[in-house]
Amino acid sequence: MLRRLSPIQPDSFEFTAANLDWARAQMTKYPEGRQQSAVIPILWRAQEQEGWLSRPAIEYVGNLLGMPYIRVLEVATFYFMFQLQPVGSVAHIQICGTTTCMICGAEDLIRVCKEKIAPHAHEVSADGRFSWEEVECLGACTNAPMVQIGKDFYEDLTVEKLSALIDSFAGGEVPLPGPQNGRFSAEALGGPTALAELKGGEQYNASVALAVSLGDTIKRIDGTEVPITTPWLATEKSA
Ligand code: FES
Repeated sequence: MLRRLSPIQPDSFEFTAANLDWARAQMTKYPEGRQQSAVIPILWRAQEQEGWLSRPAIEYVGNLLGMPYIRVLEVATFYFMFQLQPVGSVAHIQICGTTTCMICGAEDLIRVCKEKIAPHAHEVSADGRFSWEEVECLGACTNAPMVQIGKDFYEDLTVEKLSALIDSFAGGEVPLPGPQNGRFSAEALGGPTALAELKGGEQYNASVALAVSLGDTIKRIDGTEVPITTPWLATEKSA
Protein backbone atom coordinates (compact mmCIF):
# COMPACT_ATOMS: atom_id res chain seq x y z
CA MET A 1 0.00 0.00 0.00
CA LEU A 2 1.36 3.40 -0.96
CA ARG A 3 1.61 5.75 1.97
CA ARG A 4 1.54 9.32 0.81
CA LEU A 5 0.74 12.69 2.31
CA SER A 6 -2.89 13.70 1.99
CA PRO A 7 -3.79 16.22 -0.74
CA ILE A 8 -5.86 17.93 1.99
CA GLN A 9 -3.52 19.77 4.38
CA PRO A 10 -4.01 22.38 7.11
CA ASP A 11 -2.05 25.65 6.87
CA SER A 12 -0.07 25.05 10.03
CA PHE A 13 0.60 22.89 13.07
CA GLU A 14 1.72 23.83 16.54
CA PHE A 15 1.98 21.84 19.75
CA THR A 16 -0.08 23.05 22.69
CA ALA A 17 2.19 24.62 25.32
CA ALA A 18 1.93 21.49 27.51
CA ASN A 19 2.63 19.13 24.62
CA LEU A 20 5.67 21.21 23.64
CA ASP A 21 6.97 20.93 27.23
CA TRP A 22 6.39 17.19 27.05
CA ALA A 23 8.24 16.91 23.73
CA ARG A 24 11.21 18.89 25.06
CA ALA A 25 11.27 16.60 28.10
CA GLN A 26 11.45 13.54 25.80
CA MET A 27 14.44 15.08 24.03
CA THR A 28 16.39 15.14 27.31
CA LYS A 29 16.37 11.33 27.35
CA TYR A 30 19.16 11.27 24.78
CA PRO A 31 22.79 12.43 24.87
CA GLU A 32 23.58 15.87 23.49
CA GLY A 33 23.47 15.76 19.69
CA ARG A 34 21.19 12.70 19.63
CA GLN A 35 17.85 14.47 20.16
CA GLN A 36 16.57 13.10 16.84
CA SER A 37 16.13 9.76 18.61
CA ALA A 38 12.93 11.24 20.05
CA VAL A 39 11.30 11.47 16.63
CA ILE A 40 8.82 8.60 17.05
CA PRO A 41 7.31 9.59 20.43
CA ILE A 42 7.12 13.23 19.33
CA LEU A 43 5.41 12.35 16.03
CA TRP A 44 3.06 10.17 18.06
CA ARG A 45 2.20 13.05 20.38
CA ALA A 46 1.52 15.25 17.33
CA GLN A 47 -0.89 12.57 16.12
CA GLU A 48 -2.47 12.28 19.56
CA GLN A 49 -3.09 16.02 19.51
CA GLU A 50 -4.52 16.28 15.99
CA GLY A 51 -5.74 12.75 15.29
CA TRP A 52 -3.43 12.40 12.25
CA LEU A 53 -0.07 13.63 10.92
CA SER A 54 -0.28 16.51 8.48
CA ARG A 55 2.62 17.82 6.43
CA PRO A 56 2.87 20.94 8.67
CA ALA A 57 3.06 18.62 11.70
CA ILE A 58 5.87 16.58 10.13
CA GLU A 59 7.77 19.78 9.29
CA TYR A 60 7.16 21.17 12.78
CA VAL A 61 8.68 18.03 14.32
CA GLY A 62 11.61 18.31 11.90
CA ASN A 63 12.23 21.90 13.03
CA LEU A 64 11.93 20.95 16.69
CA LEU A 65 14.49 18.14 16.34
CA GLY A 66 16.77 19.84 13.82
CA MET A 67 16.08 17.10 11.26
CA PRO A 68 15.70 17.43 7.48
CA TYR A 69 11.97 17.11 6.66
CA ILE A 70 12.66 14.10 4.43
CA ARG A 71 14.05 12.13 7.40
CA VAL A 72 10.91 12.78 9.46
CA LEU A 73 8.75 11.95 6.45
CA GLU A 74 10.57 8.64 6.05
CA VAL A 75 9.64 7.68 9.62
CA ALA A 76 6.03 8.87 9.30
CA THR A 77 5.46 6.99 6.03
CA PHE A 78 7.21 3.79 7.21
CA TYR A 79 5.07 3.04 10.27
CA PHE A 80 1.40 2.23 9.65
CA MET A 81 0.51 3.51 13.13
CA PHE A 82 0.89 7.02 11.75
CA GLN A 83 -2.23 8.28 10.01
CA LEU A 84 -1.33 10.33 6.95
CA GLN A 85 -4.93 11.18 6.05
CA PRO A 86 -7.42 13.17 8.13
CA VAL A 87 -9.44 10.94 10.47
CA GLY A 88 -12.91 11.36 11.92
CA SER A 89 -13.17 14.14 14.51
CA VAL A 90 -14.86 11.79 17.00
CA ALA A 91 -13.24 8.41 16.34
CA HIS A 92 -11.09 6.40 13.96
CA ILE A 93 -12.03 2.71 14.08
CA GLN A 94 -9.29 0.14 13.45
CA ILE A 95 -10.73 -3.27 12.63
CA CYS A 96 -8.44 -6.26 13.05
CA GLY A 97 -8.73 -8.33 9.87
CA THR A 98 -6.10 -10.99 10.64
CA THR A 99 -6.84 -14.73 10.74
CA THR A 100 -8.60 -15.21 14.09
CA CYS A 101 -10.71 -12.08 13.75
CA MET A 102 -11.40 -12.86 10.09
CA ILE A 103 -12.67 -16.35 10.98
CA CYS A 104 -14.82 -14.87 13.75
CA GLY A 105 -16.51 -12.20 11.63
CA ALA A 106 -14.14 -9.27 10.93
CA GLU A 107 -15.49 -8.98 7.39
CA ASP A 108 -18.98 -8.39 8.79
CA LEU A 109 -17.56 -5.65 11.04
CA ILE A 110 -15.93 -4.04 8.02
CA ARG A 111 -19.31 -4.11 6.29
CA VAL A 112 -20.82 -2.22 9.26
CA CYS A 113 -18.14 0.47 8.91
CA LYS A 114 -18.69 0.69 5.15
CA GLU A 115 -22.40 1.18 5.69
CA LYS A 116 -22.30 3.47 8.73
CA ILE A 117 -19.13 5.47 8.10
CA ALA A 118 -17.76 5.51 4.56
CA PRO A 119 -17.45 3.05 1.66
CA HIS A 120 -13.65 3.03 1.74
CA ALA A 121 -10.97 2.78 4.42
CA HIS A 122 -9.31 6.11 5.36
CA GLU A 123 -12.33 7.99 4.04
CA VAL A 124 -13.98 10.37 6.51
CA SER A 125 -17.75 10.06 6.96
CA ALA A 126 -19.99 12.68 5.37
CA ASP A 127 -20.40 14.46 8.73
CA GLY A 128 -16.62 14.39 9.30
CA ARG A 129 -16.94 12.52 12.60
CA PHE A 130 -15.79 8.97 11.84
CA SER A 131 -13.31 7.04 9.75
CA TRP A 132 -12.12 3.42 9.69
CA GLU A 133 -9.40 1.11 8.42
CA GLU A 134 -8.50 -2.57 8.51
CA VAL A 135 -5.35 -3.35 10.52
CA GLU A 136 -3.20 -6.39 11.25
CA CYS A 137 -3.47 -8.48 14.44
CA LEU A 138 -3.77 -6.27 17.53
CA GLY A 139 -2.89 -9.09 19.91
CA ALA A 140 -6.35 -9.71 21.36
CA CYS A 141 -7.06 -12.83 19.28
CA THR A 142 -8.73 -14.70 22.16
CA ASN A 143 -11.41 -12.01 22.15
CA ALA A 144 -11.92 -11.99 18.36
CA PRO A 145 -13.36 -10.25 16.53
CA MET A 146 -12.22 -6.96 17.93
CA VAL A 147 -11.51 -3.33 17.01
CA GLN A 148 -9.41 -0.55 18.45
CA ILE A 149 -11.22 2.75 18.83
CA GLY A 150 -8.96 5.60 19.86
CA LYS A 151 -6.67 4.16 22.52
CA ASP A 152 -8.76 1.19 23.66
CA PHE A 153 -9.87 -2.25 22.52
CA TYR A 154 -13.51 -3.30 22.07
CA GLU A 155 -13.61 -7.09 21.98
CA ASP A 156 -15.95 -10.05 21.43
CA LEU A 157 -17.92 -8.04 18.91
CA THR A 158 -20.89 -8.80 16.70
CA VAL A 159 -22.40 -6.73 13.91
CA GLU A 160 -25.08 -5.46 16.29
CA LYS A 161 -22.59 -4.62 19.04
CA LEU A 162 -20.24 -2.66 16.77
CA SER A 163 -23.18 -0.83 15.27
CA ALA A 164 -24.41 0.12 18.76
CA LEU A 165 -20.89 1.25 19.77
CA ILE A 166 -20.67 3.60 16.79
CA ASP A 167 -24.10 5.01 17.67
CA SER A 168 -22.94 5.59 21.26
CA PHE A 169 -19.84 7.46 20.16
CA ALA A 170 -21.98 9.48 17.72
CA GLY A 171 -24.23 10.37 20.66
CA GLY A 172 -21.30 11.78 22.63
CA GLU A 173 -20.72 8.80 24.92
CA VAL A 174 -17.57 6.75 25.38
CA PRO A 175 -18.74 3.16 25.85
CA LEU A 176 -16.87 0.90 28.24
CA PRO A 177 -14.03 -0.83 26.37
CA GLY A 178 -13.02 -4.48 26.77
CA PRO A 179 -15.09 -7.61 26.06
CA GLN A 180 -18.60 -6.75 24.91
CA ASN A 181 -20.13 -10.15 25.69
CA GLY A 182 -19.89 -10.11 29.48
CA ARG A 183 -16.48 -11.78 29.67
CA PHE A 184 -14.16 -10.34 32.32
CA SER A 185 -10.98 -10.61 30.22
CA ALA A 186 -9.69 -13.48 28.07
CA GLU A 187 -10.87 -16.46 30.13
CA ALA A 188 -12.68 -19.37 28.45
CA LEU A 189 -16.18 -18.44 27.30
CA GLY A 190 -17.72 -20.81 29.83
CA GLY A 191 -15.70 -19.30 32.69
CA PRO A 192 -12.15 -19.88 33.98
CA THR A 193 -11.03 -23.51 33.86
CA ALA A 194 -7.78 -23.00 35.82
CA LEU A 195 -6.85 -20.84 38.81
CA ALA A 196 -10.56 -20.13 39.20
CA GLU A 197 -10.09 -19.71 42.94
CA LEU A 198 -7.88 -16.67 42.30
CA LYS A 199 -10.70 -14.65 40.83
CA GLY A 200 -10.75 -11.36 42.68
CA GLY A 201 -13.66 -9.05 43.14
CA GLU A 202 -12.52 -6.45 40.61
CA GLN A 203 -15.19 -4.74 38.57
CA TYR A 204 -13.01 -4.44 35.46
CA ASN A 205 -9.93 -6.16 34.07
CA ALA A 206 -6.69 -4.13 34.31
CA SER A 207 -6.90 -2.73 30.80
CA VAL A 208 -10.52 -1.59 31.15
CA ALA A 209 -9.82 -0.20 34.64
CA LEU A 210 -6.98 1.91 33.21
CA ALA A 211 -9.18 3.14 30.37
CA VAL A 212 -11.89 4.11 32.86
CA SER A 213 -9.46 5.91 35.17
CA LEU A 214 -7.71 7.84 32.36
CA GLY A 215 -10.87 8.59 30.40
CA ASP A 216 -8.83 9.43 27.29
CA THR A 217 -10.09 6.73 24.90
CA ILE A 218 -10.93 9.15 22.07
CA LYS A 219 -9.62 12.37 23.60
CA ARG A 220 -7.26 14.57 21.61
CA ILE A 221 -4.27 14.79 23.96
CA ASP A 222 -3.27 18.37 24.87
CA GLY A 223 -0.59 17.46 27.41
CA THR A 224 -2.52 18.36 30.56
CA GLU A 225 -3.71 14.79 31.17
CA VAL A 226 -0.80 13.49 33.24
CA PRO A 227 2.13 15.33 34.83
CA ILE A 228 5.46 15.31 32.96
CA THR A 229 8.02 13.18 34.76
CA THR A 230 11.71 13.00 33.88
CA PRO A 231 13.16 10.47 36.34
CA TRP A 232 16.22 9.97 34.10
CA LEU A 233 17.33 13.56 34.86
CA ALA A 234 17.17 12.92 38.62
CA THR A 235 19.21 9.73 38.16
CA GLU A 236 21.81 11.63 36.17
CA LYS A 237 22.17 14.31 38.88
CA SER A 238 22.42 11.80 41.71
CA ALA A 239 24.93 9.63 39.80
S1 FES B 1 -6.22 -11.77 14.88
FE1 FES B 1 -7.39 -10.07 15.59
S2 FES B 1 -6.41 -9.53 17.45
FE2 FES B 1 -5.18 -11.13 16.65
